[in-house]
Amino acid sequence: MKSKLIVGNWKMNGGLRTNSALLEAIQSGLSGVTCRAAVCVPAPYLAQMQTLLADSPVAWGAQDVSAHEAGAYTGEVSATMLQDFGVRYCIVGHSERRQYHSETDALVAVKAQRALSAGITPIVCVGETQAEREAGQTEAVVKRQLAAVIHANGHCISEIVVAYEPVWAIGTGLTAAPEQAQAVHALLRKQLQAASSQADRIAILYGGSMNAVNAATLLAQPDIDGGLVGGAALQADDFLTILNSASR
Ligand code: 13P
Repeated sequence: MKSKLIVGNWKMNGGLRTNSALLEAIQSGLSGVTCRAAVCVPAPYLAQMQTLLADSPVAWGAQDVSAHEAGAYTGEVSATMLQDFGVRYCIVGHSERRQYHSETDALVAVKAQRALSAGITPIVCVGETQAEREAGQTEAVVKRQLAAVIHANGHCISEIVVAYEPVWAIGTGLTAAPEQAQAVHALLRKQLQAASSQADRIAILYGGSMNAVNAATLLAQPDIDGGLVGGAALQADDFLTILNSASR
């Protein structure tokens, strides 16, 4: 069985001092943790991660990457810049970026491509809104979002991580029921298998109000390979409980 992967998405939270306190608390509780772990932090703190996590089993990542390679794109951060800071993962297509920055499926696919060509694993987020779920469109939406990334990345697709994050479950305290999440994960798995013979290597994470209480049940589902954790990743105790649940 492949080891599970738990990724903390800090979103736009943190500060030099609080980051180092949080990481210290996390690192001091890692005995017994055998799953893979990472934190995706705001870009200005990547250098700090490179220093603080140099000898740690916890990897670090970014939350976005430019679709461009270099040039006149004020405010953007390129994949090669992320590479300079030892970044292992990069979230692409998070629903907050799709929603607040109008990111399209095609743009997300190019971002995944940029990350892959810099040797960074893109964590590709897909997920339906409440309205889409109510309209019975969940399957069509997540398949369309993932298809764009598969189409643009061909045989490299086995190098990605997928995160299913139902938009209605993010930061709301509403979690998809384990069976509900499992059903979507199973169909994403099928879609990946149809695209690549190596698909079983791909971790499919669940994200959306995963916490210390519900993590174990979600992670027990056959196609849930880990979690992309927002709020609970900012509390060392909660994050450690989730890491322990993923280590069983
Ligand atoms: P919450 O865990 O805070 O719901 O956030 C989930 C998420 O968006 C992780 O990327």
